[in-house]
Order: sequence, then structure tokens, then C-alpha cells
Amino acid sequence: MDGKKSINIGLIGQQFMGRAHSNAWTQARHFCSPPLNPVLHTICARNMETLIPFSELWGWQNTCNDYEAMCRSPEIDLVDVTAQNHMHLAMSKAALAAGKAVACEKPLAGKFEDAREMAALARKSDAPTFVWYNYRSCPAVAYARQLVREDAIGTIRHVRGFYLQDWADESVPLLWRFDGDISGSGSHGDLCAHTIDMVRFVTGEEITEINGALFETFIKERAQVTKVSGGGIAANVSGSGDAEMVPVTVDDAVLFLSRLEGGAVCSFEATRMATGRQNYNGLEINGTKGSVRFNFERNNELEYYDATGPRGRQGWRTIMCTHEPDHPYSQFWWPDSHGTGYEHAFINMAADILRVLAGEEPISPMPDFEDAFKTQCVLEAVTQCFNEQRTIKLSEVT
Ligand SMILES: NC(=O)c1ccc[n+]([C@@H]2O[C@H](COP(=O)([O-])OP(=O)(O)OC[C@H]3O[C@@H](n4cnc5c(N)ncnc54)[C@H](O)[C@@H]3O)[C@@H](O)[C@H]2O)c1
Repeated sequence: MDGKKSINIGLIGQQFMGRAHSNAWTQARHFCSPPLNPVLHTICARNMETLIPFSELWGWQNTCNDYEAMCRSPEIDLVDVTAQNHMHLAMSKAALAAGKAVACEKPLAGKFEDAREMAALARKSDAPTFVWYNYRSCPAVAYARQLVREDAIGTIRHVRGFYLQDWADESVPLLWRFDGDISGSGSHGDLCAHTIDMVRFVTGEEITEINGALFETFIKERAQVTKVSGGGIAANVSGSGDAEMVPVTVDDAVLFLSRLEGGAVCSFEATRMATGRQNYNGLEINGTKGSVRFNFERNNELEYYDATGPRGRQGWRTIMCTHEPDHPYSQFWWPDSHGTGYEHAFINMAADILRVLAGEEPISPMPDFEDAFKTQCVLEAVTQCFNEQRTIKLSEVT
């Protein structure tokens, strides 16, 4: 072995993010040379029928379905939460009460009150906390931040943030993402939260006020779902063949206008109904000296406009963010233009978490509960702006 200290991970969840995180903890060690060796110690989920094969596939050493017991176990060092949003508070609380480091999926919580409590618990605890705003760890996004910090685009005047998907037509039943009691919100907390975090990260500026907001739920009711064997779901169909319909309690789309502390004006847009856009999470930032533009569907690329040269030769250039040593994280991956994908941001972030836990500098600053609470305050301010139809200062939301 390499003599590095090990850290035992206890992961909650075995589905979408459970897979992404199992892979991240495994590959961080293989590729990113972290100062600690993550050990896939225990995986916890509700469905033991699917959990056993999952743990064997990924090499988890133990399985359980009691997250509180796992948090209390003296063998666990870090609790990684990938359960649905309404469980983030209870699970993080159990982990922090046992003095464990916590890495929780985004958004910090579905409900603002839960997020506020999580930030307060983290403030009182000595244990480190992290929130998986993984787009920070995309090389192109981290490079955009670097360009802003190097003053390559000058003073920021305009920001456009967008996160567009198109998977939620009438045929999709009432998954937890459409149930406000579980998710807290729809496209707002699910998608826009990522873009808000990305804008805060790249610009290094906080959003100070929300000047206008619009939410829309296009599909008002969806088929009730029933769990089926193997952990899958099916529409709950009655004897007559018609699915039982239940109300949707979250937004399908959100738009809002805002300002950054440096005076820039910003627009944000998130939707699950943008036909033809599948994971179009991105931003465009226009400054006095240049601009940057990114969208995750072309995640290796950052577009950059340098307005400092002769006007006749100016134009957008596309930078492949895969060149060592210029581009953050590229030293861990493949030769120029051999590309990285969705899973790499999680792996990069897992390695950054391990650097922080070992007292080293991460490549990108890691969002902790306090930082993710700032994003949550923006989400809340947007909701208040829509409900009250007035400008909401972020200073009003605490
Ligand atoms: N960072 C990202 O890009 C990203 C992408 C997708 C989802 N997410 C976030 O990840 C979280 C999970 O999303 P998902 O799509 O993986 O959901 P999912 O429904 O696919 O998986 C949720 C998992 O949580 C487990 N779980 C729920 N309650 C539990 C309990 N009481 N005890 C043990 N296990 C429990 C379930 O067994 C399941 O395995 C959400 O907060 C979501 O917002 C983040």
C-alpha cells in the first residue's frame, strides 16, 4: 500500500447519485492522488434486495438499512448523503451528532427551514461539511473562474444563468421530484440551485437582490407511482386501466432577475420542459474586457471572447479545457482533447473533499453547509419575490 491514511466512507443511497458517488470515491484514488485513501466501508439504503448486488458490484464492504446506526458506528469517518432532499437534515444531523464529516447532496435541503437548521448545526460542530455542487469541479467551469480572477474579462456587467432539461412531459409519473413534501421545489431547487452556485463560484460575487420571479407548473397532475420489485417504479393503474392522478406540487420552470454585489445584472432560467435541451446547465458572463460562456452539454469546452485586441480580429474562441497545466484538474486525466464527462466532476470533487479533510488546499473551494446556505437563501428569496411580487434583498432572508 502507499502508506496514506484511510478514511472510511458511509454512503446513504444506491440509485442515481449512489452510483455517481460510489464511482467517485473509487476513482478519486485511482486518478487524483488524494492525500487520504477513501475506503468504501458501508452502503446504506432502504431496499436490501437491490442493495446486496449493488454493494458487490461497487465493492462496498458492508450494507445496512439503518442510517442512524451507520452514523453512530465508530468505524465510519465520513457520511455521504444521497437520499432525497427531505432527508438531508435528519441524516446530516445524525452524522454531525456523532462527530462525523458530512458530504451532502444538493440542494442543501428541500425546505428553507431545514437548510437554515443544517447551517446552524454545522456552525456549532467541529466536523467538516461539504455539499455536492459538482459543477464547480468541471475543468471548464473552474477555468472560467480562473479567468475571472485573472481579470481576463474585466468588470462583470451581465450574467445569464440557465439550466434547461426536457424529460418531464405528461407521460412521466409523479416521481419524488414532483412532490413538494419530498423535493421542496421542482426545477428551482433541482436545477437552478446548481446554476446559482456556479455563478457564485465563477464570479466570486454574491447575489444581493431578486427583482422579479416567475414560476410555472405546466402539468398540474401526474400518475401516482407504485414501487415494483427490484426498486423500480410503475404508474399506479386502476382496474379500468386509467392511472390514478395526483396533483403536482412543484414548479416545472422558473425564471428570475437579480443583481450581483459588483453591480452586474443577472437573469436565471431553469426548466424541465425545454424540448431539445437535456442537460444544458450553463452561464454567459459579459465583462468590460471580455466574456466567457459555458454549457455542460459541451462540458470540455469554454468559450472565451477577448475584447482587448484589434476589433477586426475579435471573436469567440473555443478552448478545450484539457491542457495540463493550464486547466484545473487536467493533470489527473487524459492527454489533450481526450475529454472528460459527467462522472469526472464528482471524482474531482471527491478528491478535493479528501484534500480538505487532510488539511490541504482543494483545487476549487469546496462548498460547505454555510456556503450552500447562501445558495439556499437565493432560492428562498426568489420564492418570496414571486409570492410577494416585490424586490427581495438577500439581507431580508436569514
Ligand atoms: N449533484 C447532482 O448533479 C445531482 C444529480 C441528481 C440528484 N442529485 C441530488 O441527489 C439526491 C438524490 O437524488 P437521486 O436522483 O440519486 O435520488 P434517487 O431516488 O435515485 O435515490 C435516492 C436514494 O436514497 C435512498 N434513501 C432514501 N431514504 C432513505 C433512508 N431513510 N434510508 C436509507 N436510504 C434512503 C434510497 O434508497 C435511494 O437509494 C437529491 O438530493 C438530489 O437533489 C444531485
